Amino acid sequence: MSIKKLFIFCFLGLFYETVSFKPVILMHGILSGSEKMNIMVQEIEKAHPGTKIYNFDKFDGWYSLENIWRQVVEFRNFLDEIGSKHPEGINVVGYSQGGLIARAAIQTLPLHKVSTFVSLSSPQAGQFGANFLHLIFPDLAANTAYELFYSNVGQHISIANYWNDPVQQEYYYKYSKFLPFINNEIQTFNSSQYKNSILRLNRMILIGGPNDGVITPWESSHFGFFNKTLNVIPLHKRKIYTSDTIGLKSLLQNGKLVIIIKPFVHHLTWHTNRRVIQDVILPYLD
Ligand SMILES: *[C@@H]1O[C@H](CO)[C@@H](O)[C@H](O)[C@H]1NC(C)=O
Ligand SMILES: *[C@@H]1O[C@H](CO)[C@@H](O)[C@H](O)[C@H]1NC(C)=O
Repeated sequence: MSIKKLFIFCFLGLFYETVSFKPVILMHGILSGSEKMNIMVQEIEKAHPGTKIYNFDKFDGWYSLENIWRQVVEFRNFLDEIGSKHPEGINVVGYSQGGLIARAAIQTLPLHKVSTFVSLSSPQAGQFGANFLHLIFPDLAANTAYELFYSNVGQHISIANYWNDPVQQEYYYKYSKFLPFINNEIQTFNSSQYKNSILRLNRMILIGGPNDGVITPWESSHFGFFNKTLNVIPLHKRKIYTSDTIGLKSLLQNGKLVIIIKPFVHHLTWHTNRRVIQDVILPYLD
């Protein structure tokens, strides 16, 4: 090989190195915004130089309380547009409510390009607890919140859309316009689509931990949830898993579902904790 050829070869190799990480889309949490994802942007750029990062900047602050379907549709359009520019695939990281929005957006796209989806302490099986509630409604009691949330008016607020009161399941099924649908607890002609899109993922990473302090139960970050007597039923014993309703069991059996328990991380710090980002997010963003 001539020096010139060798040089071109090395140059191409270098080029290949810098473009070999898939683009990453970030979705921020509730009462927060894209600027709060900047530490994650820095960490990704440092570890994976050249990665193209798209930080979704809509629905920040109080706008994050808007009806969740509206947010899902906007994020889906964003995902679709960026996906069409990157046929090689994209990775998505959603934090807190953002992980739920991102997951639902993926489910509504039949031909999405998402390879790895990282759910960072997101209430995937819903939320039922005072800590989270009081971030937004300081005076509302968890056991009566359903009266507001499970109503046509209440459903205009994002957190009502995934409020899952284990004692008031009848009302949950009757009024909730979001969670029972994307979790295929209520079957519609969209249900098979919602499952197929999950099965298209190359990997789903579910991150959560016992010291979260806000997501209640914290196991909801792994699709675990309370039963009627408020005992936490882990993912692998819930119908959503055992009946493979949305494809989680298939993913796990194919080595594509990764469940990560990370202790000593408070909910409001997951996305800015460099150790979390380095240990359990970056390794999956290839
Ligand atoms: C099915 O999905 C479409 C497009 O996302 C939506 O407009 C429609 O309301 C959904 N139908 C049901 C029954 O959920
Ligand atoms: C809830 O789960 C606990 C522990 O698995 C069980 O003992 C209890 O009977 C369950 N409650 C209901 C209403 O199923």
